[in-house]
Amino acid sequence: MNVKPDFSKNANMAATAPAFLSVWDMHAYYGESYIVQGISFNVHEGEILALLGRNGAGKTSTLRAIARLGDPEVRRGEIWLDHQPLHTMKSYEASQVGLGLVPEDRRIIAGLTVEENLKLAQIAPPLGWSLDRVYDLFPRLRERRAQEGVTLSGGEQQMLAIARALCRDIKVLLLDEPYEGLAPVIVDEIEKTLRIIKEQGITTILVEQNAVRALQLADRAVILDTGGIVFDGTAAEVLENKDLREEYLAI
Ligand SMILES: Nc1ncnc2c1ncn2[C@@H]1O[C@H](COP(=O)(O)OP(=O)(O)OP(=O)(O)O)[C@@H](O)[C@H]1O
Ligand SMILES: [Mg+2]
Repeated sequence: MNVKPDFSKNANMAATAPAFLSVWDMHAYYGESYIVQGISFNVHEGEILALLGRNGAGKTSTLRAIARLGDPEVRRGEIWLDHQPLHTMKSYEASQVGLGLVPEDRRIIAGLTVEENLKLAQIAPPLGWSLDRVYDLFPRLRERRAQEGVTLSGGEQQMLAIARALCRDIKVLLLDEPYEGLAPVIVDEIEKTLRIIKEQGITTILVEQNAVRALQLADRAVILDTGGIVFDGTAAEVLENKDLREEYLAI
């Protein structure tokens, strides 16, 4: 019989754990399909958490559930952000309390320039970021502010998608495969930016297929497998654990 090793350390995590973002016993469904099967994990303020796992493990579904998109539907469990019950909120309310999701397809709005895409998302400073602050972080976007957003390169579109999230007053950035399809040199550039975003106090959940790159950046990692958590610990532990890497990440 193939018994899965239990790398998970969160079995006894209290529902009241004083983490910044807490997911507690979350179960989520697409119709009758039971996808996220009772997961619990904490994200501490200002850290980068890598959320990893094979294709179909439930990473995107977990991000969508936290962002309260309604699909998948969370039927059981609690999600708390900075003492506020996200699980009772709609997606626009989750966005208002500081959650920023950058989906895999980036959703740049066609027919609008870079700057118009940013302005559409912008909340007036001091709550949101000023355009100058965003452009200081992404000089490439400043150079291309008048260019139509959808004509940017893949890497630049990813930068625009992240920049747009920052234009709101976010506390938590949820990134779904930001490195997908990008050359290593562009990944370097985005990684550098994510470090600066972290220095500014923003908490990040990073979903990535490129697990090694994600683990090099992240403080901690949670690994999903068929809708459950199989590991919760430091990024360094994953990098050092060959069995874990081979079994769940194929690296
Ligand atoms: N809209 C949907 N309706 C029904 N099932 C879905 C839907 N979206 C995803 N699923 C299923 O949920 C499971 C988890 O999918 P999810 O997209 O969360 O995985 P993932 O870990 O992000 O995978 P990948 O690495 O391929 O992006 C998969 O079996 C998938 O087929
Ligand atoms: Mg996915």
